[in-house]
Amino acid sequence: MSVKSTFDSDVATTATLLKRKPKEWPIPAPLSDHGNATIIPIVNQKGGVGKTTTTINLGAALAELGRRVLLVDFDPQGALSVGLGVNAHELRLEETVYQVLMDPQSDIEKIILKTSVPGMDLLPANKELATAEVTLVNEMGRENFLKRTLESVKDYYDVILIDCQPTLGLLTLNALTAADGVIVPLQCEFFALRGFAQLQENLEKVRLNLNPNLKLIGILATMYDKKTLHSREVLERILEAFPESVFETVIAQTVRFPETTVAGEPITTYAGSSGGAASYRRLARELIAIGGTR
Ligand SMILES: Nc1ncnc2c1ncn2[C@@H]1O[C@H](COP(=O)(O)OP(=O)(O)OP(=O)(O)O)[C@@H](O)[C@H]1O
Ligand SMILES: [Mg+2]
Repeated sequence: MSVKSTFDSDVATTATLLKRKPKEWPIPAPLSDHGNATIIPIVNQKGGVGKTTTTINLGAALAELGRRVLLVDFDPQGALSVGLGVNAHELRLEETVYQVLMDPQSDIEKIILKTSVPGMDLLPANKELATAEVTLVNEMGRENFLKRTLESVKDYYDVILIDCQPTLGLLTLNALTAADGVIVPLQCEFFALRGFAQLQENLEKVRLNLNPNLKLIGILATMYDKKTLHSREVLERILEAFPESVFETVIAQTVRFPETTVAGEPITTYAGSSGGAASYRRLARELIAIGGTR
């Protein structure tokens, strides 16, 4: 197993920026039993900040640690499915998350696909998912459909990561209602914090009305370029604004990530000894160490 094959010295951290010693997140013990999955949507209504990349690679890193992982593609763009080598746009409606969402009688296990990563499965989506958003508007309990859908597989998996679309519409609201906690990727660029206030307001509304236990597990700084002053300044501002909520692990900018999309596999297998792979492996260990999942 390649869990130890990459080095944390290759990983950017907030600790280095703050001139502190980075923590050494331990490799967690294997789980003796499985189930009661932690449901974690990866959310940000801003587009292109690394939601899908984080879903795939954090999922793969958690699977390497022996966790049973389900990735839910909840974006009609289908980028998560495509990023895992699934030709989502050729799938029939009955073969996607749409089916299990809209028809409680359907068999979710027939729709879930295995991925190339042992222990990591995928509930795929394609553009037809957009019609669910329209249909759901008129349904009673319209925010609860995904929560109900995942109920039947929650006892098998340890972690369910949901790749959300870049809006705060009804699909994302369904993900937040099903969630135990959310991870918010923020791109290290000038307008990163714009829109985050709105996201926080939405999280608060969901807490009040739909899901009182919803937590912000952490903000993940992505596409960090340590060579530019700009990137460092943005990260400093994020840390000033949310000192308690930012993951210590930072995801640096690298062309290896776009390459993995073309390859249709996670960076942990595509470029297993790269800094990018080390970053998501470290993030997985940090997530477990801080109690984001077991
Ligand atoms: N750390 C990184 N360094 C360089 N490129 C990255 C990094 N993370 C993601 N990318 C690339 O940036 C683009 C956007 O990333 P991604 O699709 O993960 O964002 P997203 O938030 O899911 O976007 P959307 O809002 O459209 O769903 C992709 O081409 C991806 O390969
Ligand atoms: Mg995406």
